[in-house]
Amino acid sequence: MKIKVVSLSEENVNDALLVCPPTSSKLRSDINIKKGLEIRKRWLLNLYRKVGLCAKIAYLDNTPVGMIQYSPLHVIPYFKTRRKDVLYIHCIYVKRKVRNRGIGSLLLKSLISEMKKPNRLFERAQCRVLSTTARERYGFTQVSYFKNKGFSEIEGNIDARLIYPLSRTGRKEKLDVPSSEPLHINERGVKIFFNPSCHMCKYMNENIKVNIREVNPTIEIKECNLWTRSKEAIRRGITSVATYINGKPILPMKPSEFWKTIRRYACSNKRRQIEL
Ligand SMILES: CC(C)(COP(=O)(O)OP(=O)(O)OC[C@H]1O[C@@H](n2cnc3c(N)ncnc32)[C@H](O)[C@@H]1OP(=O)(O)O)[C@@H](O)C(=O)NCCC(=O)NCCS
Repeated sequence: MKIKVVSLSEENVNDALLVCPPTSSKLRSDINIKKGLEIRKRWLLNLYRKVGLCAKIAYLDNTPVGMIQYSPLHVIPYFKTRRKDVLYIHCIYVKRKVRNRGIGSLLLKSLISEMKKPNRLFERAQCRVLSTTARERYGFTQVSYFKNKGFSEIEGNIDARLIYPLSRTGRKEKLDVPSSEPLHINERGVKIFFNPSCHMCKYMNENIKVNIREVNPTIEIKECNLWTRSKEAIRRGITSVATYINGKPILPMKPSEFWKTIRRYACSNKRRQIEL
């Protein structure tokens, strides 16, 4: 078994995308998964053109089987921070059939050794800390994985709460990203804040729309990219995906509960419209 880890470039960007699509052929051919892959590709290429290194791909005998996506924390527009020495990991993924063979560890090791080198993107050309989300999401295993790999949980924003210091300074690391506290807003309609870093984004957005339309066919629905509508996200106190229905935020939760909540919030508005 020969594993090679390669940094993302304009030439191999499709390989990074190939790693994650769903295993079922029905889902793979879904138009919204395809659209999601296009959205993610555009996001990844924009990020690459802005910061250079932003993903690594693991190849097993020349087939892409794993990837890790990252960027300096201070270039992520929906995180407010003054620190310029933190690298944020957006996600890590290894294809199911080749898990537990050390591929994830190799990606992480390669990233750590790259980040220990001088890098002009960081203050004094030095990255000091890796950070990632501690938000548990149904079906995602990366939080427990990073904890297993030595990341520890600190106080502060849940979407940047797991950290891994690159040098042992003895001082307790702290990030200055304000807490994620989704605010209630005075507005009508639906706004779906999604992250283009995941190819499932469009599929998820469309499912949310279908569920809302079933109970409230006339409500206005807008999709908001967290990277391009970051000011609005910050104003609302959100630092990851959230669906706003008539000003009330709905965050990721157990799928059955999520869909029930989406329908309930969309439905309650309809009732109010009828009453008026
Ligand atoms: C987490 C993931 C990247 C691990 O990749 P992998 O190649 O299987 O990992 P490795 O083979 O390097 O694992 C090495 C170690 O981590 C442990 N480990 C693996 N998955 C783990 C998990 N989910 N939680 C805790 N520990 C885990 C293994 O037991 C092993 O431990 P050991 O070194 O003590 O024996 C892979 O399981 C995955 O892609 N999961 C989905 C990740 C996800 O949710 N991504 C976000 C959505 S896109």
